[in-house]
Amino acid sequence: MAISDKIRISMERSSWIRKMFEEGQERKAKFGTENVFDFSLGNPDMEPPPRFKQVLVELARDKSRGRHAYMPNAGFAETRQAVADYLNTFNRNTFSADEIVMTVGAAGGLNVVLKTLLDPGDEVIIPKPYFVEYDFYVDNHLGTVKTVPTKEDFSLDFDSLENAVSPKTKAVLINSPNNPTGKVYSSRELTELARLLSHYSTKQGRPIYLVSDEPYRKITYDRITVPNIFDLYPESFVVTSFSKDLSVPGERIGYIAASPELSDKAVVVAGMVFSNRILGYVNAPAFMQRAVSVLLEESVDIRSYQEKRNRLCEALLSFGYEFNRPDGAFYLFPRSPVEDEFVFVQALQEENILTVPGSGFGAPGHFRIAYCVPDTVIDGALPGFEKVIRTF
Ligand SMILES: Cc1ncc(COP(=O)(O)O)c(C=O)c1O
Repeated sequence: MAISDKIRISMERSSWIRKMFEEGQERKAKFGTENVFDFSLGNPDMEPPPRFKQVLVELARDKSRGRHAYMPNAGFAETRQAVADYLNTFNRNTFSADEIVMTVGAAGGLNVVLKTLLDPGDEVIIPKPYFVEYDFYVDNHLGTVKTVPTKEDFSLDFDSLENAVSPKTKAVLINSPNNPTGKVYSSRELTELARLLSHYSTKQGRPIYLVSDEPYRKITYDRITVPNIFDLYPESFVVTSFSKDLSVPGERIGYIAASPELSDKAVVVAGMVFSNRILGYVNAPAFMQRAVSVLLEESVDIRSYQEKRNRLCEALLSFGYEFNRPDGAFYLFPRSPVEDEFVFVQALQEENILTVPGSGFGAPGHFRIAYCVPDTVIDGALPGFEKVIRTF
């Protein structure tokens, strides 16, 4: 075999995603792209805000020398300071550039944090349902994923979390607003989580870190806001990106913010900077670092996502679908009317509606609809959604 067993097995494990994608492509070729309603990918359909392109043009005109050279592995000092200043507008803690590492998207940032923290066999607790790539990211750095169930409404289940803690627990990885459920953890929940982690950190004599993956932080609805974990727990990291809120996932730009109160902060941050380098990222893209440093307050039109959510939720509810109304992100995670959600996803596919089985997120019996699509796709799919649920 040319490739490693490990990669072959990982590819086989995630092959159903590829299969979905390939089936979608086949259907698009057969029925025409406009007749296939593709809700399978979290690839935002919205264009970046106009200001993004203006900034790119301004930056491209800059003729000073060395604009495209190597830089410190943590990123440009000016960009990191701009991120720190931005965080200081809504966190109680005061950030400096020293706590910020610019990364290749949130995915790059998560790999950097995990590489820095994990020894082989260290455990990372992750509430289900969860972003399936976490399994690979933790495995990349020889850690072990320990998933724990959440409650019926996808809020944190503290009994399960507590049962999962072991002497090998190094971190808890949460994602809010959540992919695939759209859940935003409340302040009360996060305070309770902080209490639990503080208790076990003291007991074990070493911190259990909280890593919060927040690329959807700005995408929330009904005036819900995402609580700041830094105000609640000192041993924490936020990993985020501009992929979703500026609609630029292909540009691969994000950052890690380490808590100003982190123990051994200088060593941990130095570890992250080194990891950024040796993972082969070296540094986050220079051009994008310059761009985002003046776009921190910007975002796509969130109301447009809220309207899409409302449009989809109202229609699906009236057809008899059951789900928790998402607080944020752009995913809906309904219960499948049949236990085996693959059967239901297949039936939707027959109507040219492409969704993703919940098993891929550690939550069988559900399916995910990514509604970051044009309104025409939502409207076009509604008759099919109605027809299919009637047959179950
Ligand atoms: C929960 C979650 N984390 C991380 C990522 C990766 O984001 P990025 O494109 O910024 O690497 C995604 C992308 O879909 C995501 O849904």
